Amino acid sequence: MAAEHAPAGAPAQGGAPAQGGVPAQANAPARPRLLDRYRSLLPVTEATPRLSLGEGFTPLVRAERLGAAWGLANLWLKLEGANPTGSFKDRGMVLAVARALEAGARSIACASTGNTSASAAAYGAAAGLEVVVVLPKGKIAAGKLLQAQAAGATVLAVEGNFDAALRVVRELAAQGDHPVTLVNSINPHRIAGQATAAFEVCDDLGRAPDVLAIPVGNAGNISAYWAGFRAYRDAGRIDGLPRLWGFQASGAAPIVLGRPVEQPETVATAIRIGNPASWATAVAARDESGGLIEAVSDDEILAAYGDAARLAGVFCEPASAASLAGVRALREAGRLDPDALVVCVLTGHGLKDPDTAAGLASPPVEAAATLPAVMAALGW
Ligand code: F0G
Repeated sequence: MAAEHAPAGAPAQGGAPAQGGVPAQANAPARPRLLDRYRSLLPVTEATPRLSLGEGFTPLVRAERLGAAWGLANLWLKLEGANPTGSFKDRGMVLAVARALEAGARSIACASTGNTSASAAAYGAAAGLEVVVVLPKGKIAAGKLLQAQAAGATVLAVEGNFDAALRVVRELAAQGDHPVTLVNSINPHRIAGQATAAFEVCDDLGRAPDVLAIPVGNAGNISAYWAGFRAYRDAGRIDGLPRLWGFQASGAAPIVLGRPVEQPETVATAIRIGNPASWATAVAARDESGGLIEAVSDDEILAAYGDAARLAGVFCEPASAASLAGVRALREAGRLDPDALVVCVLTGHGLKDPDTAAGLASPPVEAAATLPAVMAALGW
């Protein structure tokens, strides 16, 4: 149940009928809340409100046809677009908003390339908080902007890119006249919540993958996965650790270049970021895991985006396809064992960015609603 704030001391798994015969949570044994499933590994307290929109538990799908086309026998896709607002952001947002509520916050704010704002708006709405989102003007995919607007967030569009938007919300959180909690991934609860995706991958596979490939923008998610894999190893739940392979868009690849990019540009607007906040922890994840962070072109991203839809049935957003494009390029370059167990994180749903999809699609073939006309149109 959304925004249900059970009193302190409520059973961790819910399910027991509460007063009046209303369950604390629907289907609790079959589908525990994400924060309950991994409670021992998360910074939650007895007093943390039991906020949930049903985040997490996303599918890990084996992509046999796509893998065969690319020469990979064990290619898996983690479908983070199956989260409530259509991206991985919900894993960390549920925790950040619950902890903000616990601390007495009335107002939350974030800068965003779109998905963080959609998630903050939704969880803020469920929790009854004021939500302010600051976005780079004209550079947000249509669906994401509509999500924030529909949920009643105050949407500010600023001149400049994500990096400028993040600068101004940091200042907003630091002023004292109108207290507001920052829910960007520099909020440690965001990273802690996002680490649950690494736990799920290991639970589903029964081990860590050989390679985990992931798009990199503000660099919080690659940092979160690495923290998650290490925590799972330390808890004795897995033996080995994966190599982390991060991919930036070539027009927005500061970590690859080793310097900030003033004017980042890419079709993958979600990762159009020139100066990532979690730069240092992303580099540590890369180096400690024996992994890499490389760049993929917009053409490679769009080719992988199309292949995922046509060969795996998975419609992801362009930024998500950066992980696929990178794996494909490294396989082609002979830098990836064809039998390696590879998980690509598909961070957001394709429906968020209908304009990119429409730009690549052919218009429908028109036909009269008769068998001969339809057969003729099909060329049968
Ligand atoms: N994929 C998608 C779909 C994203 O929305 C983002 C980031 C990333 C990948 C990269 O993740 O920033 O943790 O390295 N989106 C942020 C936002 C910046 O505002 O929605 P990261």
